[in-house]
Amino acid sequence: MSNIAIVGTQWGDEGKGKLVDLLAEHADAVVRFQGGNNAGHTMVVDGEQFISHLVPSGIIQGKICFIGNGMVVDPQVLIEELDYLESKGVKAGPDRLKISEKAHLIMPYHKSIDHGRERMKGEKKIGTTGRGIGPAYEDKATRRGIRFIDLLEPEVLKEKVITILDEKNFYLKNYLNGEPLDGEAIIAEFTKYAERLAPHVTNISVELDQIVKSGQRILFEGAQGTHLDIDHGTYPFVTSSSTVSGNACCGAGIGPKHINGVLGIVKAYTTRVGAGPFPAELFDDIGDQIQSKGAEFGATTGRRRRCGWLDVVLLRNAARLNGLTGLAITKLDVLGGLKTLNICTGYDHQGTRRDDFPASLKVLGECKPIYETLPGWDEDISGVRKFEDLPENARNYLKRVEELTETPIQIVSVGAGREATIVLENPFNK
Ligand code: GDP
Ligand code: IMO
Ligand code: MG
Repeated sequence: MSNIAIVGTQWGDEGKGKLVDLLAEHADAVVRFQGGNNAGHTMVVDGEQFISHLVPSGIIQGKICFIGNGMVVDPQVLIEELDYLESKGVKAGPDRLKISEKAHLIMPYHKSIDHGRERMKGEKKIGTTGRGIGPAYEDKATRRGIRFIDLLEPEVLKEKVITILDEKNFYLKNYLNGEPLDGEAIIAEFTKYAERLAPHVTNISVELDQIVKSGQRILFEGAQGTHLDIDHGTYPFVTSSSTVSGNACCGAGIGPKHINGVLGIVKAYTTRVGAGPFPAELFDDIGDQIQSKGAEFGATTGRRRRCGWLDVVLLRNAARLNGLTGLAITKLDVLGGLKTLNICTGYDHQGTRRDDFPASLKVLGECKPIYETLPGWDEDISGVRKFEDLPENARNYLKRVEELTETPIQIVSVGAGREATIVLENPFNK
């Protein structure tokens, strides 16, 4: 297949970064199409760990990387990331990292508002990453956002900042009890970012079109996960962008006929950071064991991730919403040592079985998981590189996931390193 999209199927942190890094070997370009530095994508190459928040995870493989128009970008974080990569010997200059002129900027007031709102919500907070994501997308939708193209036009930038800051400062001071911000300081700060980032800014839709026309291959890198999607997730406990594969087109500026396959990344169990319903959540020693063996702490905020059993209701929902053509199962090694494993195959809602994912949070909160129990395995599988070398019970677990989701497993990951992978079928070769 020429171009593929990689998306998270659960609530994020499925291991997208590892899979994008691995498969970028077969691609010529890698594009992020939504989200911002709420994402934390981890790659481990030759024992060294890289966490990227904004730069696509194909950068380590030396591929041309694109920041899509669908993203919201904190320029300070981007510059820090570029400097870090260069310091590690990874090329990240303007010929390697291109930024859409239409991508929106996360401004200092977006971060202040994100923090202020969460503080005011108290117990009822969403548990956002505090990076200003929601307020930035909000300004995009209300047509007051600031885009990279504005950075290149100093007079426009100045006028936009001064105009919007009046209202933002009023809201910050009088509603959120926060500190007002200084417009001149923001303009000076962003003028410096403009100088540094201008050479990266381009019309990426045109460049991607040329890549497609020359027969080269593109990998679209999703962030977050299907159940954090603004439309299809557990609203309002979601992020503010569309995380499903369809948005790879809008968020990069390319037509749907150019996406030929969609790989859904599935953690072998379920995790969630932040608040919101989670029917298969574990509150016992097994949950603690998975959390500690899986080192389940957020790559962006360091928060402890909530853990639970694999939930196939989520996966079937993700298969349909994204048009998944294959699955990559990650962190299978973490389940080793458990006597039995549960898979949530449906929900019991007040005595009635439900196989769909309810839109009502009230109903979802009342749903009890219906489990199917499979035998576990004791062996350490982190060194296994062939499917047939996995313990029989691990193979059976995977086969059952394949049956229940009606989607073929193409890749199994058994460790954080690039090499700790079993490739059953290369999604690019299908
Ligand atoms: P992403 O946001 O989807 O890219 O995922 P994160 O990087 O936030 O979280 C996944 C975590 O699991 C990272 O620390 C990875 O290094 C790690 N990881 C990925 N695949 C595996 C695996 O198969 N086994 C183990 N033990 N760790 C993995
Ligand atoms: P990756 O790409 C896991 C969650 C936050 C919060 C909700 C809204 O690494 O999988 P936001 O800051 O986006 O307004 O927060 O979404 N969230 C993530 N959870 N992985 C992520 O990204 C996430 N990005 C946002 O914890 O519950
Ligand atoms: Mg992550």
